[in-house]
Amino acid sequence: MPERILEVEDLTIDIPVPSGVLHPVQGISFHVDRGETLCIVGESGCGKSLTSLAVMDLLPQKAIRRAARLELDKSSILDIGERPMADIRGNRMSMIFQEPMTSLNPAYTIGNQLAEALLRHRKVTASEARDRAIYLLERVGITAAKGRLGQYPHQLSGGLRQRVMIAMALMCEPDLIIADEPTTALDVTIQAQILHLLAELQDEFHMGLILITHDLGVVARVADRVAVMYAGQIVEKGTAAQIYESPTHPYTQGLLACIPIPGKTERGAHLGAIPGIVPSLVGDMRGCHFASRCPLAHDPCWREDVALTPAASEGHDYRCVLAPDKTAASFDIEAVA
Ligand SMILES: Nc1ncnc2c1ncn2[C@@H]1O[C@H](COP(=O)(O)OP(=O)(O)O)[C@@H](O)[C@H]1O
Ligand code: SF4
Ligand SMILES: [Mg+2]
Repeated sequence: MPERILEVEDLTIDIPVPSGVLHPVQGISFHVDRGETLCIVGESGCGKSLTSLAVMDLLPQKAIRRAARLELDKSSILDIGERPMADIRGNRMSMIFQEPMTSLNPAYTIGNQLAEALLRHRKVTASEARDRAIYLLERVGITAAKGRLGQYPHQLSGGLRQRVMIAMALMCEPDLIIADEPTTALDVTIQAQILHLLAELQDEFHMGLILITHDLGVVARVADRVAVMYAGQIVEKGTAAQIYESPTHPYTQGLLACIPIPGKTERGAHLGAIPGIVPSLVGDMRGCHFASRCPLAHDPCWREDVALTPAASEGHDYRCVLAPDKTAASFDIEAVA
């Protein structure tokens, strides 16, 4: 029986904005088991980052979070208060952000910051914390780790800083790591290295990993399960094999048409783009959120909210009024130069 690390049920986030109320996350549910990588994918603005911030209880102050269930290791972490949450963050669950400089303090050496991450949560000596920092810096591929301890974040390249962030996230051996677009700010060659490293460490430390990305090419290589988000909702979820071999929601099919898939896409083939833009999330929305961009949209799609329902195989769900065998969308693909 897999060990459930995180259970999120019916998570909703509302943010009051000058023009009304923004509904960036609208009743999403997902889980992560120990030793598993869940990838959350979707276009920019669909609610991925706010979802992860909601799990960490780090939402902007004006945001209102609701959930039927939010459990870490089978205990509720919903509204448990700031003190207990501060004990959990960086300890039992850690987050890696897109831009490491948002989490690293420019005024302290990386040795200090790494050691502090452990000293805060564990009864260890300063020298034990330092030893673990060196071990983890080496483990994330930083050479001459001991010498790096005295350096400041600005003395490191973007790739090295992100490796330091990964080491910092691992200091307390968390049960869960949430990595929000951890490689977007890096060069393409370094992106792949960092993602492989994360996947390797996830396996070695047997943690749960939530990897958030807009890049379905990345997901194909590291995901056990995938949740596809669109305009505040999960529109499809399943194992990586289910999503890549039998994508059922027209949006997922559109996303997959936009990327080269190793072994599937022919050399020289045209890649696509999904025409249109993500709808505004301010105010109430009726019907399928994807209707304004879906080539298969028809009357019923606009009338009623569409529920997540089982697709053709177990553990695979999609949100569309059409039967799974009727959703093969013929995207009017715009060639991307
Ligand atoms: N602090 C905030 N105040 C108001 N709106 C926000 C705030 N943070 C994010 N949003 C809006 O919420 C939506 C979802 O944002 P986000 O979760 O960051 O998307 P993603 O990570 O998928 O790109 C977007 O429309 C974004 O503009
Ligand atoms: S419900 Fe309608 S608009 Fe939405 S994805 Fe399905 S066919 Fe397209
Ligand atoms: Mg984001």
